[in-house]
Amino acid sequence: MKKLKGAVIGLGYWGPNIVRNFLKIPDVELVSICDISKKSIENAKLSFPPMEMTTDPDKIFANDEIDFVSIATPVSTHFELALRALDSGKHVLLEKPMTLSSSEAKKLIKKAEMMNKILMVGHTFLYADSIQKIKKMIENKNFGEVLYFDSTRVNLGKFQSDVNVVWDLAPHDFSILQYLFGSPQSIHVLGSSHISKKKLEIAHIYLKYTNNFICHIHVSWLSPLKIRSILIGGTKKMISYDDIAPSEKIKLYEKSVSINKSEVTPFSPAYRSGNVIIPHLSQKEALLTELEHFVYCIKKNKKPLSSGEDGLEVVKMLEACDKSLVMKKEVSYV
Ligand SMILES: NC(=O)c1ccc[n+]([C@@H]2O[C@H](COP(=O)([O-])OP(=O)(O)OC[C@H]3O[C@@H](n4cnc5c(N)ncnc54)[C@H](O)[C@@H]3O)[C@@H](O)[C@H]2O)c1
Repeated sequence: MKKLKGAVIGLGYWGPNIVRNFLKIPDVELVSICDISKKSIENAKLSFPPMEMTTDPDKIFANDEIDFVSIATPVSTHFELALRALDSGKHVLLEKPMTLSSSEAKKLIKKAEMMNKILMVGHTFLYADSIQKIKKMIENKNFGEVLYFDSTRVNLGKFQSDVNVVWDLAPHDFSILQYLFGSPQSIHVLGSSHISKKKLEIAHIYLKYTNNFICHIHVSWLSPLKIRSILIGGTKKMISYDDIAPSEKIKLYEKSVSINKSEVTPFSPAYRSGNVIIPHLSQKEALLTELEHFVYCIKKNKKPLSSGEDGLEVVKMLEACDKSLVMKKEVSYV
């Protein structure tokens, strides 16, 4: 079967990971990679096999042989590059967050529809075995009702030039929340800027859902430690997820608390503590699964698991965060 010809634009931190993984997919021939920085091109020459390496994205858009473009540039460039790629008849895999505004995201979705091309957003966590296993755990009725989701996503940097820490790190949690639980009812953000004095470097995001399900997300570029941890509590079981643990990333605890309502005094909650289950997780890189899914969607003309519409929902949540920060209060999401 004919190989799909692809290109990657943006070879900073994330782009080379995309290139490395596309090179593993037998159905794909990577024909061009691009970065406006000559230094990035020089680095790419040392790491990757010979192919066109250019500082000019127009060369990619003008090449009719190229079927798809993967874009891993700063967020402020996403809209223009993706629009030009779609206009030139290419399928697009666009990094998160999809765009700087929901109006731009909607225009890309419309353009992809008009051109009959796949538009997928790089919500990488949805392709991780960990999140797939967590989804199964919380959908099992033995988990009980879900009570809370508490995420800590902090490290020192990496400061982004064009977006604040919420737009940089929270898209991961927002895409996970959308995938597992759908949209929240309201969002409230507290944040602060200390180094740049312009962009938030620390933020605490509070989200409320129906049925008393609450979420908290702590994102920071000013932490001495890199922490990627999520706790999800249910009425019967609880999950801990440490994404940077070398093994045993997910633990499912048979722990819960109940209160005998008839015994108000003395107040005596009953704590239940049972087994801890540690599921086996695939060692496959989530990014490789994501790229294979993109290729599958192009070949079969299927809607991706992280479609343009899913990217739009994440951008809408980010806009609600901005609104909450300006208004200094909880804002309705829907
Ligand atoms: N899916 C994930 O898990 C994940 C992880 C990290 C970053 N990202 C996303 O990837 C994107 C890039 O992030 P990064 O950390 O690699 O940024 P980066 O700043 O390290 O790299 C961006 C690169 O894009 C190049 N560039 C800028 N404008 C360009 C243009 N018009 N044409 C061609 N090249 C251009 C820059 O020279 C730079 O080399 C962001 O959207 C980020 O949110 C996603």
